[in-house]
Amino acid sequence: MNKVLVTGGAGYIGSHTTIELIKKGYEVIIVDNFSNSEPSSLDRIKKITRKDVPFIFGDLKDRNVISKIFESFNDIDTVIHFAAFKAVGESVAEPLKYYNNNILSLINLLYSMKQYNVPNLIFSSSCTVYGQPDELPVTEDTPLKPASSPYGNTKKISEDIITDFINSGNYIKSIILRYFNPVGADISGDNGELPQGIPNNLLPYITQTALGIRECLNVYGNDYDTHDGTAIRDYIHVSDLANAHIDSMRYLSNKSAPFCDIFNIGTGEGYSVLDVINSINKFLDRPLPYKIVNRRPGDVEKIWADNTKAKNTLNWFPKFNLDDMTSSSLNWEKKFRGTL
Ligand code: NAD
Ligand code: WQD
Repeated sequence: MNKVLVTGGAGYIGSHTTIELIKKGYEVIIVDNFSNSEPSSLDRIKKITRKDVPFIFGDLKDRNVISKIFESFNDIDTVIHFAAFKAVGESVAEPLKYYNNNILSLINLLYSMKQYNVPNLIFSSSCTVYGQPDELPVTEDTPLKPASSPYGNTKKISEDIITDFINSGNYIKSIILRYFNPVGADISGDNGELPQGIPNNLLPYITQTALGIRECLNVYGNDYDTHDGTAIRDYIHVSDLANAHIDSMRYLSNKSAPFCDIFNIGTGEGYSVLDVINSINKFLDRPLPYKIVNRRPGDVEKIWADNTKAKNTLNWFPKFNLDDMTSSSLNWEKKFRGTL
């Protein structure tokens, strides 16, 4: 069984992936600097898995942090690299903060992986690299559009850095996963998304509105060219997404270095904002309050994945539908706020 270093393992997707890895018998080590998460995340992982995961508090911008981890745990053979900043709006306001954190952390990691002969890397990319595609659904060969934010650009540049590094003959095997819109929470209701401050993303805003923490959801635009005028996304349950990393590790174990490939991770279904509201309403006593406001600058109209490559190659299949996603998010928010 592989020993896996999960960077950013205290965060939303990293914590869910750690849980799935432990359930499947992998040994996990987490490194995080809690820049967008809390130590309580580790307690939630322990509650669900009943395991104490070795944790290193450290910042990946410091290459010594990674070197020390590879020295202390000399049998790590896979890194799943989640650690990055991800707020699109903040990246527009503070681009250097994003380039510095997201790019420097990756470069440090690759240098250290080479130095310590750590062969496998799974990298978190994003459907944001496609921008508004000319044709839907998007395959991995769909041409990329210029990034609409510094955050999106860090994902494009990171993909290029990994590909160039491997193409130059370094003995690393990597899978780059382009996530669509990760939502939902662990089926136990004991782990989920914990945004700091006012949520930017749809699902946490909806669940906080459902609990009365926010007054009303602003729906950004109903004049898009979609079935009900609201924008369409491919929402993917975070536990399905977590399992895509494990399927990627299995796939890499049969490959020889150097190797690199890219996969879309989405359900292949597109849902509008109103579809999501209709779904959560099935689990609420009163309909979610919302109002239509102007479009949000920078939003794409519609995008969803062609996930054929991940299904056929990684043998990865999403299990959860939209109702599972909204109900698990709501369940987590209620448990977390102590209203369940
Ligand atoms: P998150 O913010 O919840 O988790 C990221 C974790 O990394 C946090 O715990 C943070 O403290 C840590 N971190 C950040 N910089 C660090 C550093 N320099 N050193 C150590 N730790 C550091 O984000 P998430 O939603 O779990 O996203 C994980 C990854 O997936 C990110 O790379 C993100 O860009 C990517 N992604 C996320 C989404 C999404 O909608 N959530 C979509 C596509 C891609
Ligand atoms: C979804 C839909 C909004 C909030 C972002 C990043 C992307 C990726 C995933 C990391 C859109 C609408 C939202 C609200 C709304 N992250 N909405 N009211 O914008 O698709 O993607 O997260 O890589 O890079 O850009 O996700 O959840 O913010 O929005 O109407 O209060 O919900 O307009 O149509 P998005 P989101």
